[in-house]
Amino acid sequence: MADRIKIAVIPGDGIGPEIMEQALLVLNEAGLKFGFEAETEMLLAGGASIDAYGVPLTDETIEKCKASGAVLLGAVGGPKWDNVDPSLRPEKALLGLRSGLGLYANLRPAKLFDELAHASPVKDINDTDILFVRELTGGIYFGKSGEYMSEDILADGTPYGKVAFDTESYSEGEIRRILKIAFDAAGGRHRKITLVDKANVLTTSRLWRRIFLEMAEEHPAIETECLYVDNCSMQLISRPSDFDVIVTSNMFGDILSDEAGMITGSVGMLPSASLGAPGTPGMFEPIHGSAPDIAGTGKANPCAAILSVAMMLRYAFNYNDAACAIERAVAKAISEGYRTCDIYSGRPEEKIVNSSEITLAILKFMG
Ligand code: IPM
Ligand code: MN
Repeated sequence: MADRIKIAVIPGDGIGPEIMEQALLVLNEAGLKFGFEAETEMLLAGGASIDAYGVPLTDETIEKCKASGAVLLGAVGGPKWDNVDPSLRPEKALLGLRSGLGLYANLRPAKLFDELAHASPVKDINDTDILFVRELTGGIYFGKSGEYMSEDILADGTPYGKVAFDTESYSEGEIRRILKIAFDAAGGRHRKITLVDKANVLTTSRLWRRIFLEMAEEHPAIETECLYVDNCSMQLISRPSDFDVIVTSNMFGDILSDEAGMITGSVGMLPSASLGAPGTPGMFEPIHGSAPDIAGTGKANPCAAILSVAMMLRYAFNYNDAACAIERAVAKAISEGYRTCDIYSGRPEEKIVNSSEITLAILKFMG
């Protein structure tokens, strides 16, 4: 009898449900080929949950996610919910899932598909293959924040008026555990790791750097470098293929992984894994958003969601062969010229297709 794996599926908003539909076809096919059966439970989060229950994330949804082997998420958010109370925004669902499930390690591989090199705005892009390791449950995303009115007056006479603040804080434990993930990952790749921080300005960054340098001494086989985030954003463009693992805080990781998405051609191709303590369910999702402007048009690129299924099979369920088969099939669809709009550049060898056509090609190439 086939193994059964239990997956909480959160299609979300905008293009989320469309790409999820395609991703589930691929999951199902992988199950048939590799001898497992995926039991999926569909859950609401984000805008869809606001519409149904008045809140972006219910306790029941979190509990159901905790009781599953993994969570597969599409995307959340959209202009429809732009004016809701900020504490009820759809994005709060993501943050709530990350903290509720303890998903402190966000792995965002940014690997170039050779045939998409020309779609990159960057010239020297060959062999770019970066793994971003982003801390995901700390830092400014989860620090103290608030607003108050101030009577103070600026030196030029302008009144302060309302003051808003967000704070960044990191503990040694939080830093050490994410750095450990990054060093381990580098050990299994090209043994190079870059810490990105702003240690010339931020106290938190200086703590990151001290611990990083200590751990670097414990890992003599791994080449280490430290870059300030502003400098790194330039280096990523001038020498993207020099990087192997980049480890950084929640906010810097958010920004730089989008930049890497552009460098490698399209965020429509990039999956992610968010992992917590061993034995607890991880969450797998594309790094792109809900793209409400193209929702319902069939134009969405399902590759990032499909590659997220591959990451899920590998990290949550140890089905490495199935994961590799999916990754190979996506690469084959690209090399055979299948292109959704975001990766189409009008070359003769390319054929423009919709979400379900590229998925059919991927299913076919799974053999
Ligand atoms: C991401 C997204 C989220 C983040 C938003 C939607 C809260 O941009 O996953 O990168 O900032 O982490
Ligand atoms: Mn982001």
